Amino acid sequence: MNQIKEILNKYPKEEEYLIEILLEFQASKKNHYISSEDVSVISKYLNIPESQVCSVISFYTMLSMSPKGKYVIQVCHDVPCFVNSANNIYDKLVEELGVEDGETTEDKLFTLEITECLGRCNESPVMRVNDKVFVNLTPAKVEKIINDLRGENK
Ligand code: FES
Repeated sequence: MNQIKEILNKYPKEEEYLIEILLEFQASKKNHYISSEDVSVISKYLNIPESQVCSVISFYTMLSMSPKGKYVIQVCHDVPCFVNSANNIYDKLVEELGVEDGETTEDKLFTLEITECLGRCNESPVMRVNDKVFVNLTPAKVEKIINDLRGENK
């Protein structure tokens, strides 16, 4: 609860800060999602209806009300990455993780998502794992990244 208050106290009680607040709430959560309790707290703080908070969450793909894995892997699928074999990167992730776009592994370690441009087109193909961006990917690099992350959680 203190962490929630700390986040809210950084922002004026004005609706225009809704997205920033939501992003910070989500980033502070272990499972990268905004709970219904969070929605309630935020709506009271900004004095707006909960339905408005929920509709913003459902509009923006980077926001979620469903729990995700510890590591959210977002593979860029925009044209520059696509022409540099982003498909092979996605296929390798599917092979390694056993899940597809929008799914979370049974051990709750990884969520796989296809996403739009991550702003590093000249180093494509690109993926992001939580806040960290990986560039110039190959299937072998992807395998190593996944193995390293699994190793950190043994
Ligand atoms: Fe993939 Fe821009 S298109 S990072």
